Amino acid sequence: MCGVVGAVLRDQPALEGILDGLRVLEYRGYDSAGVAVALSEGVAVRRRAGRIEALSEALQDGALSDARCGVGHTRWATHGPPNELNAHPHSDHSGRIALVHNGIVENHQELRRELIEGGVEFRSDTDTEVIVHLVARELERLDGEGLSPSLADGVRAALQFVEGYYAIAVLRTGPEPELVAAKQGPPLCVCVTDDGAWIASDVLALLPHGKQVVFLEDGDVARLSPGHCEVARPDGAAVERAAVEIQWRAEDAGMAGFDHHMQKEIHEQPAVLGRTVSERVGEGDAALGSGWTDEDLGGVERVQVLGCGTALHAGLVAQFLIEGLAGVPVDSDYASEFRYRAPRLVPGTLALAISQSGETADTLAALKLAEELGCRTGAICNVQGSSLVRAADSVLLTDAGPEIGVASTKAFTAQVAGAYLAAVRLGRAKGALSEVEADAHLAALRGLRGQLEQLLSDEAVAKVREVARSNQDAKGFLFLGRGVNYPVALEGALKLKEISYVHAEGYPAGEMKHGPIALIEPGMSVLVVNSQGGVADKVRSNLEQVKARGGRVIVVGSDEESLALADEAIHVPASSEWVSPILNVVPLQLFAYEIGLLKGCDIDKPRNLAKSVTVE
Ligand code: M6R
Repeated sequence: MCGVVGAVLRDQPALEGILDGLRVLEYRGYDSAGVAVALSEGVAVRRRAGRIEALSEALQDGALSDARCGVGHTRWATHGPPNELNAHPHSDHSGRIALVHNGIVENHQELRRELIEGGVEFRSDTDTEVIVHLVARELERLDGEGLSPSLADGVRAALQFVEGYYAIAVLRTGPEPELVAAKQGPPLCVCVTDDGAWIASDVLALLPHGKQVVFLEDGDVARLSPGHCEVARPDGAAVERAAVEIQWRAEDAGMAGFDHHMQKEIHEQPAVLGRTVSERVGEGDAALGSGWTDEDLGGVERVQVLGCGTALHAGLVAQFLIEGLAGVPVDSDYASEFRYRAPRLVPGTLALAISQSGETADTLAALKLAEELGCRTGAICNVQGSSLVRAADSVLLTDAGPEIGVASTKAFTAQVAGAYLAAVRLGRAKGALSEVEADAHLAALRGLRGQLEQLLSDEAVAKVREVARSNQDAKGFLFLGRGVNYPVALEGALKLKEISYVHAEGYPAGEMKHGPIALIEPGMSVLVVNSQGGVADKVRSNLEQVKARGGRVIVVGSDEESLALADEAIHVPASSEWVSPILNVVPLQLFAYEIGLLKGCDIDKPRNLAKSVTVE
């Protein structure tokens, strides 16, 4: 959740690069920020509550500008309110060591008590502060034993006491400043250049420095110096970690003239779909990526989909697609629930995790559990080199490019497109689809690019804006959908909640009369997703039931009869029912965006949220 950056450079100042890295990582957490640099007299720390720009202003005096080694942090608070004292970096009492952390120290209370008994005075409410004092204590102990410990020795010794999850960057002043990073759980990656070395919690912050990136593994402790990165395991044994060439470009993370990342990412969807689909589709089949062989797929008897939030909504669409096209039974679970129940998985189950970031803690843990239970594992993921990509046996990398807006948009359409390709491929491998049928399904997917462009034309966007204006004061919103579009209703409601903070419920349309219908009265807006297909007339009946009770009905889809019945209609081009979620979700994303704007919300950094949920 938090963003971590660190740098040690041969003969250049590090601060500006660290601040630039924090700006890129601000989407990971944005309640406070700080930096520490190594000066000859000790570490110098500056922290501020609020956004990076507040920190940047606090650094205008230039006192920290010349240092060659530093660490930085942008926080999403877990322990202690988001104020200056709790902001990272935290430093030890000698003023020589500073540390930034993403994660949770689960035994921090016990460690805090132990350190207080040893004479340490704490200055924050954070769990993190215990780590820096442990490092200082262990360095002192090792020194007392005459071992002249390096910072890496102290960090390794300290981490033996820490239970929980961490990605940390630690610096120590001295004649040569030392920079060390370690991870257990949340991601950390390193980019070594000729005259420096950079560490960050996200490749995006490393791209301005180089494309060759080393992803640290759990238990790794890395010692960075200009031009070098030495990695050791907890026992001190050296280990080689190969660099991966990252495909993204630094400029992909920019705004490209749009007002918000979310807006830009919604508008990128035609191109994303084109990229994700075109290179994979061949004669009557689809290439998914590494580790998907016909033999493996032929042995799949059941699929267990795992994910969180928007990714699980894509997973629910995947459930319809895999069952409908490949004839393979599918279960879908919130990863956070799956990992704490006692799942019974039949032999031949493929555990399929879906995640934009590939770093969601619950999704990773759920996939690991499925693997322990004997499943083959697969992933649909957007981030090359991420923990999920490294953990799964087979990986389909969606080609959505960096998604910075906290509300996931283009990742969803890419995930659904990926799931569709997987369903067709599985259908072919299982003999459920002939080559001709597979071709027809793939053609339907390929045809979507032009339709997505229509949905994002000025005229179509203006129509959604008009509908948003006329509904901005609604008491609440209900989103209804059925079949393959039921998850789209869930996604529409989630987008609206997170971006505009208004209450919205997503529901399967047929379930409405079992409870939510009690909410319907004048002033309640009901968005009904209905496209041509097997359940269109059923959804139309549900729609009539809403109208009969005075609800305001907005229809999104291609079912003309429903559109004619609506108080307001958002037309979506007609398509095969199976691919319709990819189209229907777009007006719902735009609707959330427009309502958020009308309400003056912070579109790309909605309150309390963070892009990548790397803690439980
Ligand atoms: O990175 P992931 O796809 O694993 O993230 C899962 C969810 O945290 C994410 O989709 C979240 O629900 C988004 N904020 C939704 O817009």
